[in-house]
Amino acid sequence: MAFVCKQCDHRSVKWFGRCPGCGQWDSLTEVRADGTDIAVDTTWLGEELRSISEIDLKNVQRLPTGLSELDRLLGGGLIPGGVVLFGGEPGIGKSTLLLQMAESLARGVGKILYVSGEESEGQVKLRATRIGANSERLFVLSEQSLSRIMAAVEQVDPLVLIVDSIQTTADERVAGEAGSVKQLREVSSALIQLTKSKGMTTFLVGHITKEGAFAGPKTIEHLVDVAIYLEGSRTEDVRMLRSVKNRFGATNEVAVFQMTAGGLVGIEDPSRFFLGDSDRPKHPGSVYVPILEGTRPILVELQALVSPTGGYGTPQRRCTGLDVNRVLLMLAVMEKHLEVHIGAADVYLSLAGGLDVRERGTDLGVIAAVLSSLRNRALSDRTAVVGEVGLSGEIRPVRRLRERMAEAAKLGIQRMIVPQSARMTKAEGLEIVGVERVSEAIEALSFE
Ligand code: TYD
Ligand code: MG
Repeated sequence: MAFVCKQCDHRSVKWFGRCPGCGQWDSLTEVRADGTDIAVDTTWLGEELRSISEIDLKNVQRLPTGLSELDRLLGGGLIPGGVVLFGGEPGIGKSTLLLQMAESLARGVGKILYVSGEESEGQVKLRATRIGANSERLFVLSEQSLSRIMAAVEQVDPLVLIVDSIQTTADERVAGEAGSVKQLREVSSALIQLTKSKGMTTFLVGHITKEGAFAGPKTIEHLVDVAIYLEGSRTEDVRMLRSVKNRFGATNEVAVFQMTAGGLVGIEDPSRFFLGDSDRPKHPGSVYVPILEGTRPILVELQALVSPTGGYGTPQRRCTGLDVNRVLLMLAVMEKHLEVHIGAADVYLSLAGGLDVRERGTDLGVIAAVLSSLRNRALSDRTAVVGEVGLSGEIRPVRRLRERMAEAAKLGIQRMIVPQSARMTKAEGLEIVGVERVSEAIEALSFE
């Protein structure tokens, strides 16, 4: 190795910041002994360097899993060579859903290898029995060692590999316990490489734990192609599967499932599911809001209960399925811009069905529900409201208003109060009332 000055061709065996020959700064570059410059050696490039216009898109074949909700979330199915991080809290249903997917794929298309680092083969079999998984092409291995998992992949040559979980898998050649950040990275990179070279699809299960000692799935999110998380409460049987990253499709998508005695069942019509029996009489405090989960509109029923505190103690403000801070803001907006005084009353708000919504499109619904309960008068059950409410009482636009209208109309809503900016008077067979201020919105509500 030697160094040559770009300016004066001065040669030296050492690197200098300033050329000893001509005094130029930062002009020495490393060359091979034969004098060719390493840094700018372009001979290797040959025909490999292509303009983006010359790159052919190979027709990527997506492999449907057979679970339609999962397929929709993934953008149509699995991509060969793709690695999916599947996260969620312990006990939420990750192993169940993946085993269901494994069975469906094994029945339909080919060999699947399900590796469990947490359960014995017998325990996996027990769960499999519950969900009716019994395919001959579904291979189960109880293993925590990376090298043995890789050996099993060589032997089985599966279409899909499931590693449950990434936190229980360890590379023996790497220091540190299974689940440490170092192990997590090493194991993930090795499995990602293997996945690409085999052209299979791999699911890495990651537990989200509250303990800081163990590294969470977030630490490998940047390595994988797709990251999806299974969420839901432990008391309710609704599960939401969300994609937060997808190199092959849309993110922020949501699939809805219900946990049953026979595994997770996809809910294709969430509105009907969450609304339950649509014929029941409407009560004061209840209002319909077309919310958005990802890009998907869902019509939900929001319920408020306002009751006097009796003059002692701090008034309660409790929310289920809604952001309590946002609700407190809405109560403040009501005090200031509607001159409605709720100060001394207890306020309870809840979203029916166990959904958890973090969306400002529910703002106007919160106000309408609270008002309806406070006045003890029901709103028309053919009316829905949607809109973000600003601190000065202005109604702000919401995303995908048209889709929300269509969903509401589909479920029998006839009149909808929406942000004015939409500039629509009639759509999807609905009577549309555009409003600019929260006071206007309240006037437009028809109480029964
Ligand atoms: P599991 O898939 O083991 O969760 P994770 O892998 O995310 O830790 O699911 C655990 C819960 O699901 C458990 O409490 C039992 C329940 N369950 C059902 O309700 N129905 C079923 O068919 C199965 C297999 C599990
Ligand atoms: Mg599990």
